[in-house]
Amino acid sequence: MTSVGSHPTETGRRDVVLAAREVAKHFPIKEGVLQRVAGHVKAVDGVSFEIRRGQTLGLVGESGCGKTTLGRVVAGLSEPTAGAVLFDIDSETLAAYDGGSSVGDIETAHKVDALTGDAYRRFRRNCQMVFQDSFASLNPRHLTIDIVGRPLRVHKEASGSGLTERVVELLEQVGLGRQHLYRYPHQFSGGQRQRISIARALALDPELIVLDEPTSALDVSVQAQILNLLHELQQANDLTYLFITHDLGVVRHMADHIVVMYLGTVAESGPTSAIFENQHHPYTKALLGASPDVDAAEEFTGLEGSVPDPAHPPQGCRFHTRCPVATARCGWEVDDVVRWIEDEPGAAGRLAGVKRDSAFAAELAFDDAATAAVVVDAIRSGRIHASMPEAVLKAESRDSRVDVEFGAVPDVELSVRGPGHVAACVHESLLDL
Ligand SMILES: Nc1ncnc2c1ncn2[C@@H]1O[C@H](COP(=O)(O)OP(=O)(O)OP(=O)(O)O)[C@@H](O)[C@H]1O
Ligand code: SF4
Ligand SMILES: [Mg+2]
Repeated sequence: MTSVGSHPTETGRRDVVLAAREVAKHFPIKEGVLQRVAGHVKAVDGVSFEIRRGQTLGLVGESGCGKTTLGRVVAGLSEPTAGAVLFDIDSETLAAYDGGSSVGDIETAHKVDALTGDAYRRFRRNCQMVFQDSFASLNPRHLTIDIVGRPLRVHKEASGSGLTERVVELLEQVGLGRQHLYRYPHQFSGGQRQRISIARALALDPELIVLDEPTSALDVSVQAQILNLLHELQQANDLTYLFITHDLGVVRHMADHIVVMYLGTVAESGPTSAIFENQHHPYTKALLGASPDVDAAEEFTGLEGSVPDPAHPPQGCRFHTRCPVATARCGWEVDDVVRWIEDEPGAAGRLAGVKRDSAFAAELAFDDAATAAVVVDAIRSGRIHASMPEAVLKAESRDSRVDVEFGAVPDVELSVRGPGHVAACVHESLLDL
């Protein structure tokens, strides 16, 4: 990874285009006539990364893990619930911020939702977003010239024939031309529409473009053309990209660094070569296994089960409900037992109530004593999960009730695995598993 130094370069531009620090975005869940807040969807829950000038950061994860939410926060389209998005900052200042020095002053100068006046306008024009669904993001009643020319008009960059010529120039940059000026979005193919979205994003000559699944709605051959186009534009215009995708294979040849997200948090993050050659998180391995473009390790041939509800993320490691190599230290909790009961033909429908002391301890009430005994046996024998017997502190039945308690486990933190490479897993290495 190159570093341009700690101060603005001759062009006045700093080496870190964007830094996210412990960014969270929680959406309230409202219920009833009074719309009382009954909980929160923790769509993004403490994510940090930085993107260096001219580089591409790949943000990867399954559907629902918070990629779009994070992309929108980073692009200034939505405010974070907590944490900071810092724009155009040099590494030295960022290190001072991380060390807790001059936090207030640094935030005034760089924190996106604290910027005002010219600084805010500078951010707005320098950070653009391209969305997956080009149909939804392009106004169907507007002609290409109006769509691509709008940012130029709004920022008073061009008008009249000057605007037309600038739009033609932008269209040519993305492989379209003058003949497309007076057409509506529905008169283009999906790939062409995405080219128009990219031309619009380029109009103000931005520093950063957040690309949210820009190719996932396209055929494979068109996908490759758009990826090539993005690559060429990056070289020509010194662009920095945040590339969001659910498919690791897509960013393999685009990204310098990859952040793998799971359920609102970072599972693993590292240089692209490290992520492809030496994964330290089972989720990364499983994602690689699920990618059609990547030869997967045999033991991780894909992902089973669905992503848990981000309003109630699992304790300990959020991935423990699906992890093929989970251990007793990974966060087993009452919900894991409840989920098993709901899916188990002999026990489903017989759970009458759950009285929780915490996520790790509860009294389960059943319709009959026989089911209570089956559940205790399933916990103790490892039928629910092989590592559960080691994690459980108490599993006892009293008639139709079961007292169950697991050792409380904190969140699994990210730890360093190599230069610029971190992962949140209790295993120090996956090589021997
Ligand atoms: N405005 C909102 N209000 C409430 N919940 C939301 C809102 N926007 C997103 N969510 C929830 O936040 C979680 C993350 O959604 P997000 O769209 O960021 O995921 P994603 O990773 O982009 O998924 P996909 O790959 O399907 O695009 C989901 O559970 C989603 O339902
Ligand atoms: S900490 Fe590692 S081993 Fe444990 S569940 Fe998470 S990913 Fe799997
Ligand atoms: Mg999305």
